[in-house]
Amino acid sequence: MTSEPTTGAAEATTDATAWWADAVIYQVYPRSFADGNGDGMGDLVGVTERLNYLADLGVDAVWLSPFYTSPQADAGYDVADYRDVDPRFGTLADFDEMLREAHDLGLKIIVDLVPNHTSDEHAWFQEALDAAEGSAARDRYIFRDGRGEGGAEPPNNWQSIFGGPAWTRLTNDDGTPGQWYLHLFDTKQPDLNWENPEVRAEMEDVLRFWLDRGVDGFRVDVAHGMVKAEGLPDWSAKVAMVAGNENEEVTGGAAEEGAAEGNMAPSGENTPPYFDQEGVHEIYRAWHRVLAEYDGDRMMVAEAWVEPMSRIFRYVRSDEMHQAFNFGFLLAGWDAARIHANVSETLTEAAAVNAPATWVLSNHDTVRHSTRYGLADPTSFPKGIAAEDEQPDEELGLARGRAAALIMLGLPGSAYVYQGDELGLPEHTTLDASVRQDPSFFRTEGAERGRDGCRVPLPWEADAASYGFSGDSPDAEPWLPQPESFEQYAADQQVNVAGSTYELYRQALSLRSQLSVGSGALEWTELNQPDAGILAYRNGKVQLVANLSGEAYSLPEGAGVLLVSDESALTNDGGGTETLAPNAAVWLTA
Ligand code: NOJ
Repeated sequence: MTSEPTTGAAEATTDATAWWADAVIYQVYPRSFADGNGDGMGDLVGVTERLNYLADLGVDAVWLSPFYTSPQADAGYDVADYRDVDPRFGTLADFDEMLREAHDLGLKIIVDLVPNHTSDEHAWFQEALDAAEGSAARDRYIFRDGRGEGGAEPPNNWQSIFGGPAWTRLTNDDGTPGQWYLHLFDTKQPDLNWENPEVRAEMEDVLRFWLDRGVDGFRVDVAHGMVKAEGLPDWSAKVAMVAGNENEEVTGGAAEEGAAEGNMAPSGENTPPYFDQEGVHEIYRAWHRVLAEYDGDRMMVAEAWVEPMSRIFRYVRSDEMHQAFNFGFLLAGWDAARIHANVSETLTEAAAVNAPATWVLSNHDTVRHSTRYGLADPTSFPKGIAAEDEQPDEELGLARGRAAALIMLGLPGSAYVYQGDELGLPEHTTLDASVRQDPSFFRTEGAERGRDGCRVPLPWEADAASYGFSGDSPDAEPWLPQPESFEQYAADQQVNVAGSTYELYRQALSLRSQLSVGSGALEWTELNQPDAGILAYRNGKVQLVANLSGEAYSLPEGAGVLLVSDESALTNDGGGTETLAPNAAVWLTA
């Protein structure tokens, strides 16, 4: 059923004490985190076995990318059954056990919800294929007659975000060509029709299914999608690109919009008719009411690639979602002026709707930040990297990645850590085309290298087969090959090893919690000179100085050092003045 629109969204009621307001949330990509059954693919038993590692690291919550029944055409973002676990990842009982153990360790669990589209193997779509044109079964999706003679042309000119047309034509049982259906992503991901009350009721029921099992929240996939402009008009705007790619110009459909996995959309008057439509907010107000019926501050975080930033914060007005990802921070790259601008704007916009700011450096759709920061242009944002492309300076990227962790974790609000960030893991930049699996690679005929390089199974033990990813199963082949360099990044080389990236994250998270950094307030200090490559802010008891310039930087005399991104980056001139090397950051006592 369609929910009642509410008024007065501006009267802010965010509970600053809610667990999510200042949480550090660790993203688990289940197929690549830990393999508990030795088949080369990660699973829920693997997650359960490693929960202690996450608790020791000091994160507050875990967000799991999809583990639902799915043919895996888009690594699980093509859901065939929203209420079950894919056998590759385990069973509902495995999920319940994982949730119970996580809660026992004090970790919250957030699951992914994919409401814009289902898999073409979902029972509803299968029913629609067998049903007549104009039937109730077809009305759950977006079926249309084609244009032109015999309906041979797609209903409009929209392009799939993964490349190619956003429409696929059916063949009728008698062999004649039939209707077309819309899929903003892969052919195997038909878009649901959110004008249909049955779709709304079903997704609310899915929310309740997982809330009843005890999940603490949802990451909402393509939260700016779902509602399409009436009449599905063609879209051929020519617009300036969003942050991170400002110099690019985009013509036409969604294929060219993607800054990361393709979800980035320009907004405002050139908003495409399939993103950021006003009608989506009514859906989130209804979902907010569902979550509010449950105890324990259940939450939703929006994956909404929209611009300008003020439009992102419309998703977290007080009666809608609770958080939205801040992709502008991720896209700022290693550039002090861009980070400074993003942080200032984020905090202003967040305060305007009384929502917490969020911060993120990497996820399963982006080239890992340590690798991006090691490219000649450390603000560049390639759609995957292959052996024939520019290769990063791995050491430089790692130093900057560690410094960026201190920049991010010293900020007020909630921070997202992608699995492997805490190990300083780089992208796999030389994956062979023959092993790639991302649909965007195939739909663009390899023009986009795709997202496989950031999805490579984690290294746990340097000396074990598949670096311990498949535990005691020496013959297991990881679903994507790991680069040899993963040996040095393996968790067992870093846990309890002074100076390791893991220990840097652990110390930062511990201080962050002890000093209530997440619930603090930021002020830029007199040392802040973003145009000269120096970032400096104070947040309660922590003062950050980050050196993004090419020169060593003298810290204020007598500064007390809480934590430095790399011990060797601090040198003492013998007279009490500490110097901070380039590509490093430090937390000082405020
Ligand atoms: C965003 C997800 O993060 C991405 O991995 C997926 O391909 C698209 N949405 C489509 O569901």
